Amino acid sequence: MKETQNPHNPTMKLSETEIAIDSILDSRRRENKKAKTITGIPYPFLKWAGGKRQLLSQMEKFIPKEFNRYIEPFVGGGALFFFLLPKKAILLDNNFELINCYKVIKKNVNELVQCLKKHTYNKEYYYKIRALDRNIEKYSMLSDSEKAARMIFLNKTGYNGLYRVNQKGFFNVPFGKYKNPKICDRKNLFAVHHALQSVKIIHNSFEHCLDYAEEEDFVYLDPPYYPISDTSLFTSYTKFNFGKDSQIKLHSVFKKLDQKGCQILLNNSYSDFILNLYKDFRIEILKAKRAINSKSNKRGEIKEVLIMN
Ligand SMILES: C[S@@+](CC[C@H](N)C(=O)[O-])C[C@H]1O[C@@H](n2cnc3c(N)ncnc32)[C@H](O)[C@@H]1O
Repeated sequence: MKETQNPHNPTMKLSETEIAIDSILDSRRRENKKAKTITGIPYPFLKWAGGKRQLLSQMEKFIPKEFNRYIEPFVGGGALFFFLLPKKAILLDNNFELINCYKVIKKNVNELVQCLKKHTYNKEYYYKIRALDRNIEKYSMLSDSEKAARMIFLNKTGYNGLYRVNQKGFFNVPFGKYKNPKICDRKNLFAVHHALQSVKIIHNSFEHCLDYAEEEDFVYLDPPYYPISDTSLFTSYTKFNFGKDSQIKLHSVFKKLDQKGCQILLNNSYSDFILNLYKDFRIEILKAKRAINSKSNKRGEIKEVLIMN
């Protein structure tokens, strides 16, 4: 497949399909008033496993045309948030490092840029910065901006831009090989800073969205997926696993949001368990390219579900 460079991340190659998706997204975003800010159009500032960029064109027709607030309890890299750029939004995630980045970009972007400028692309240096979380004393001495810069640095220079931690919660992604990774994308960080000014950012588990959600809010749920096979399991965004119990709890949150009168969209895997769990709701099938699988022969088009009320 023909590939070219990603203008937003020159270290990443884009396929023709992705370029086509980007042009659809860009035209939609140009229509958005927020996109006309002097700082430019904000994009996700991290590459995030399970990011929804490639599915946005299929999901767009199911997104409510009108809603009050946008609530995203599993925000991750925030692909849909950055696509919609809603005026009023509440973003949650239980990954402390991730939410700290959003908060620092919102409040202290200048300091973050200064911290990012100190990082350099070098294998030995990468492992030194990666190891900081193994020493609680050293780590707790970092400022919030330094922690956010570390997270962004590791994301831009680690293998495949993954975020993955082990059982102890230590970041364990190996060094990645890039030509010239853009560690500090100053322009985009300022654009994100502006987009976040009216956004509430919360470090907490998804069920706390019930404390905020009200009638006519749009709640977008993109949890770690229920695994379709043993090798497809990827739930290491934090040291807490997202197993069957969490999926059942999420289903009960979905029902409560429905009773409150929220408009809801939820992505998950195309699996008997999920199809059965949400059998009382509308289920649409999406087709996705599998992005995370160590066995390249398992990369291909797979079905996913988009559930709505
Ligand atoms: C599939 S990713 C979301 C990807 C996102 N939609 C994007 O475009 O990048 C799932 C997210 O759920 C978060 N997560 C996992 N368990 C959670 C929980 N119990 N409560 C809130 N967030 C959780 C992870 O940290 C991860 O960021």
